Amino acid sequence: MELPGEAGEGPRGPQELPPGRPGLQKSSVCSRSYFVVVMVFVHLYIINVIALLLYVHYSNGGEPGARGAPAEGAGAPGQSRPEGAHGGLSSLPRLEGIKVGYKQKLELGQHRIHEIETLSLKPLLFEIPNFLSDEECKLLIHLAQLKGLQKSQILPTDEYEEAMEKIEISQADIFNLLDHNQDGQLQLKEVLTHTRLGNGRWMTPENIREMYAAVKADPDGDGVLSLEEFKQLNIKDFHKYIGGQEVKMSELVRNSQHTWLYQGEGAHQVLRTIRQRIIKLTRLPPAIVENSEPMQVVRYDQGGHYHAHMDSGPVFPETSCSHTKLVTNETAPFETSCRYVTVLFYLNNVTGGGETTFPIADNRTYEEMSLIQNDVDLRDTRKHCDKGNLRVKPRQGTAVFWYNYLSNGKGWVGELDEYSLHGGCLVTQGVKWIANNWINVDPNKVRQIRFQQEMALYGKEDADAQSEWTLDKSYKDVHLDL
Ligand SMILES: *[C@@H]1O[C@H](CO)[C@@H](O)[C@H](O)[C@H]1NC(C)=O
Ligand SMILES: *[C@@H]1O[C@H](CO)[C@@H](O)[C@H](O)[C@H]1NC(C)=O
Ligand SMILES: *[C@@H]1O[C@H](CO)[C@@H](O)[C@H](O)[C@H]1NC(C)=O
Repeated sequence: MELPGEAGEGPRGPQELPPGRPGLQKSSVCSRSYFVVVMVFVHLYIINVIALLLYVHYSNGGEPGARGAPAEGAGAPGQSRPEGAHGGLSSLPRLEGIKVGYKQKLELGQHRIHEIETLSLKPLLFEIPNFLSDEECKLLIHLAQLKGLQKSQILPTDEYEEAMEKIEISQADIFNLLDHNQDGQLQLKEVLTHTRLGNGRWMTPENIREMYAAVKADPDGDGVLSLEEFKQLNIKDFHKYIGGQEVKMSELVRNSQHTWLYQGEGAHQVLRTIRQRIIKLTRLPPAIVENSEPMQVVRYDQGGHYHAHMDSGPVFPETSCSHTKLVTNETAPFETSCRYVTVLFYLNNVTGGGETTFPIADNRTYEEMSLIQNDVDLRDTRKHCDKGNLRVKPRQGTAVFWYNYLSNGKGWVGELDEYSLHGGCLVTQGVKWIANNWINVDPNKVRQIRFQQEMALYGKEDADAQSEWTLDKSYKDVHLDL
């Protein structure tokens, strides 16, 4: 397969750049947006990434540039429906940021006035001190402990190697896919950006150099591979090397433990109250918030971290949202989380480290390849948190929330906001507890509406019947005892 020379810089497609975002480059098919798709969920391997790129390439008749716009994802079909016919789903409000440092007051129930401060406009990000009381924080930690936490990322298994055995892509194709700037050379950062998932391990420039040395890939040792050097290399040795590496927890993309707390009907009163408060805060239709993921509680021990990532994936015709996929028949081959809003709660004061970093918040421009300069990878939250643009210090009871998608200009979810890149800095002392509430919205409005209708039906048929992924029987037994 020959990718056109302009693969990484193809036509921008019909979609206009959103106003006020001069630096945001529209991603084309062979750019990293697709890699984000896989990082959101489980830790898939580079083979999946390449499969996705090839799939997209072929299913578009080899014209990657022809489809820059996010599918019907913008929800245009839904617009033709009569307004208000979907239980208030006609548009999704967004809070106004005004400017960084701006403070607005909001009543979030129980006559408590909360102050909301704008932390950045790109992404649209707010901080709310005392969103949770100390008692609520303690209770959430307690419930999570009762439920039991599990490792957030499982160490790689033999399956990796097996999957690699099946690889059937020519080396020149892989080279082309990785060569972002199409200069005929693979720079370290090009390899890093596209192989960071490896076997679930976080790749650093040093790792790549070691790997080159181990498989004798870079005889002149300059860290750059020419097509000739790349062709000499047996890609299976490469994968064998990765697969054979022992991976420590600290070398994973995410080093934490987590659990889920059911928040629907019948859940603990505190969990219900928090959900109501979020409805007031975001002003989103209650049905959307109620049908979103349960609360995730996360514990980072000393030495824990989560390298910078996005909570949502971009939505193209080949992708579908995990939440609406449950009720739609779509046979889209790739699935991603569609999280319009992230609300993150700090449940304790952390003794050392553990800030939430937004490495490119309010940066003038954004270019994914600029995230890695020489040996500094801004996404690395163990080493380079201090170099990011914005860090939020954990403080018990404080909530931060931000939008992972831009508006489409018609009151619905638009494109992924690449500035929403964020991560959890290394916890240097003590333990860090946080909780996340994600509000799921499908950028495809028709799918979201269908999902809500189905969920409403389930609710009528059987008050207990939630979708499989919100249903949490084990939790039900727990909360009764409290
Ligand atoms: C989903 O598939 C089933 C069976 O294949 C079909 O009966 C049904 O109409 C489909 N629903 C939608 C919304 O396409
Ligand atoms: C957490 O730290 C803040 C100041 O940083 C302090 O006001 C608050 O009382 C602390 N909370 C607890 C439970 O220690
Ligand atoms: C942040 O903005 C500056 C100034 O426009 C630019 O030089 C730099 O590359 C940007 N960073 C990223 C990661 O795009």
